[in-house]
Amino acid sequence: MQKSVRLKSFELIAQDINSVDVSLLHALSTGVGWPHRFKDWEFLRRAGSGIAAVDGIGRVFGSAMWFPHGDDLATIGVVITSPRTQAQGTGRWLMQQVFEQCGERRLALNSTIAAHKLYVSLGFTAEATVYQHQGDVAAALPALPPLDGELSELPPDKIEGIFALDTFAFGTDRSRLITLLSEGASICVLRRDGAMVGYSMCREFGRGHVVGPVIASNDRDAIHLAAVHLKDLTGQFARVDTREKGPFAHFLQQSRLTISETVTTMSKGGPFLNRKANEPAVYGLAGHALS
Ligand SMILES: CC(C)(COP(=O)(O)OP(=O)(O)OC[C@H]1O[C@@H](n2cnc3c(N)ncnc32)[C@H](O)[C@@H]1OP(=O)(O)O)[C@@H](O)C(=O)NCCC(=O)NCCS
Repeated sequence: MQKSVRLKSFELIAQDINSVDVSLLHALSTGVGWPHRFKDWEFLRRAGSGIAAVDGIGRVFGSAMWFPHGDDLATIGVVITSPRTQAQGTGRWLMQQVFEQCGERRLALNSTIAAHKLYVSLGFTAEATVYQHQGDVAAALPALPPLDGELSELPPDKIEGIFALDTFAFGTDRSRLITLLSEGASICVLRRDGAMVGYSMCREFGRGHVVGPVIASNDRDAIHLAAVHLKDLTGQFARVDTREKGPFAHFLQQSRLTISETVTTMSKGGPFLNRKANEPAVYGLAGHALS
């Protein structure tokens, strides 16, 4: 008896990502070692649009999603092809369909090392490195710098209060996404002289909690806005994605959130990042897929 068999290749069909069973998407991301839970996929499907690559009997071999922020910008995420089908053109095919759906919008994403070559060949330019800090939060947080202002909790029904600050820091109005993220999140704001100067969110994701977005005007404010959540998570798994290398990153390291991976923020159609010195900026990302 022959000990090998050559299987016929099969056709993949692009389907709306909402038309496939979430458990198949969950299996796809688990298959490449990503931490998304069933619930995280449900959230992503509410927040954005996308494509699933499906074979003739309904199995899912790929995904790509995009998250519109008005008519000007979209962020791209959860671009995955199952290991069995990688390096055969599926990733490129998925991305070309995302381009078609995104129209004239500028595009931004956070690229893994595996995807870097693909995105460069599709016209993306690298802008910055993102450090994924994660781990079980230290039993005691490091000493914090003096707090300049007052921290308070923001009830989710008052979420519109942070829209202007977030838009300034992110560079584009992403109120719809922020509203969705706020459901079930704990939100903290920092006020100085009566004005809102920073905010942070903490929500369940993957293996534990994500602290992000963190919007602040300086490292000291950002540290307090992250610490206010991390102090309630001691001993539990938490993650903060940041482009910072200075005191904020040092604080995360001291809180035992070490760098597990780096990804590269890339854009196409125009620059994405718009950091201005001493102005509110993104210290913590909303999420890898959300930028
Ligand atoms: C990144 C990923 C989506 C690429 O999908 P794919 O189906 O392999 O993509 P393609 O077959 O269209 O390949 C695109 C290019 O990337 C190259 N490539 C694919 N996998 C690669 C790898 N692991 N390392 C280096 N290059 C790779 C291919 O050779 C190809 O280059 P070419 O067109 O010059 O020959 C897939 O590897 C994957 O799902 N990885 C795990 C999850 C991940 O990192 N997703 C990216 C999120 S930003």
